Amino acid sequence: ETRHAKPSLTIHLCAPRGFCAGVDRAIQIVELALEKYGRPVYVRHEIVHNKFVVDGLKAKGAVFVEELEEIPSEHASRPVIFSAHGVPKSVPADAEARKMFFLDATCPLVSKVHKEAEIHFRRDREVLLIGHAGHPEVIGTMGQLPEGTVTLIETEDDARAYVPKSDRPLAYITQTTLSVDDTAGIVAVLQERFPEIVAPHKEDICYATTNRQEAVKEVAPKVDAMIVVGAPNSSNSQRLREVAERAGCRTSVLIQRASEISWPDFEGIAALGLTAGASAPETLVEEIIGAFAGRFDVTVETVRTAEETIAFNLPRELREATGPAT
Ligand code: F3S
Repeated sequence: ETRHAKPSLTIHLCAPRGFCAGVDRAIQIVELALEKYGRPVYVRHEIVHNKFVVDGLKAKGAVFVEELEEIPSEHASRPVIFSAHGVPKSVPADAEARKMFFLDATCPLVSKVHKEAEIHFRRDREVLLIGHAGHPEVIGTMGQLPEGTVTLIETEDDARAYVPKSDRPLAYITQTTLSVDDTAGIVAVLQERFPEIVAPHKEDICYATTNRQEAVKEVAPKVDAMIVVGAPNSSNSQRLREVAERAGCRTSVLIQRASEISWPDFEGIAALGLTAGASAPETLVEEIIGAFAGRFDVTVETVRTAEETIAFNLPRELREATGPAT
């Protein structure tokens, strides 16, 4: 009697994938704050959009809240950390009013967009933000300027329908984790309608978003299916799934853990693409490879389209905790 051999499967592993410098820094801020100040350390909103990361930090003593008022008054002197997505100006103002000690884990590339918004406002420009309604980064960026100042543009249709509120000059900024291609389409509509519109000096879509989408575009035509490891509320992960779908993958799914794999979707495939959103840890990628290795004779090939070397400084208060200053 012969045993059935497992079918062969080549996994094309996208690189870069997974953690970006902003996520890495945000997680370090929580970990170092726990080391330096002890527990509990409060975190406003999921520090990064990944349940596995959040649960790991909870186990170490981080307490997650959506708003500052959820922090019990007897803990008002405990550190509170703002998530990587950034916060409206009202949040640090509120924390100061309550005399709270806060650490800001906003990604420096999101802060850069916040500064652009302010500069446009100071120069009396009308500001358009290209992004997705309801995402915390969009709420944070809109909240840099007085309410009603920033107009959100989500689609090309929005760009076509947009009516300036005044005859002031226009400027646009964007969310950092958008689809590069969709955004180019929206910008083209705006530039055609308003040739004078002021654009960011350097792209607001961040390097990590751009690089992860590039790698997926390279891999997608070679594979039958694509798995993006990431959370449903992670914007950059959702965009990776769409990029693969548009590049022709008949199956393109976003999953958080190996337990979410729907095996019938992958029956009979010979090549699988695998990537991870900027907030998904590498252990989850390994878990998925392991699950496939249980059913297929797996060969892993890495497809690298860019090298990433960027790293961000920690807040001053925590740099001291990490050893002698240099
Ligand atoms: Fe920052 Fe881009 Fe990551 S804005 S948090 S480097 S996805």
